[in-house]
Amino acid sequence: MTASEIGTIDHIGILVSDLDAAVRQYVAVLGAVEVERAELPEQGVAVVALRSGGSIIELMCPTEPDTGVWRFLHSRGEGLHHVAYVVDSVDAALDELRGRGVELVDQVARAGLGGRKVAFVHPRSLHGVLTELVEPMEWTR
Ligand code: CO
Repeated sequence: MTASEIGTIDHIGILVSDLDAAVRQYVAVLGAVEVERAELPEQGVAVVALRSGGSIIELMCPTEPDTGVWRFLHSRGEGLHHVAYVVDSVDAALDELRGRGVELVDQVARAGLGGRKVAFVHPRSLHGVLTELVEPMEWTR
């Protein structure tokens, strides 16, 4: 895989209106296990990562009104928010995609869960699915 190539799915992001209730439900229904919890104030969102088998599900809830995530929740309701793919370098992948004329949400990487670099590709580029690029991280706990 070159630095800009897009690899496997890292996680699925699901938008919820009550984070603790959603975590309890995902644990009860799927038997998922909480592995990470964080607030990302610059994105106005609180996030809990859960493991289900070998996959990670990211439950996210807005913490402030009038952010992008808040508007998404209030216009479309709870449910699938984004699909995240691993790339070796978010910066290289953004350059590559921009060079191919792909519409991006983020022109530069931002800090995501665990402090790793992330960036979003516009849903218009991928048939209605907001798509996140993330640098590799071991989900261990
Ligand atoms: Co994500």
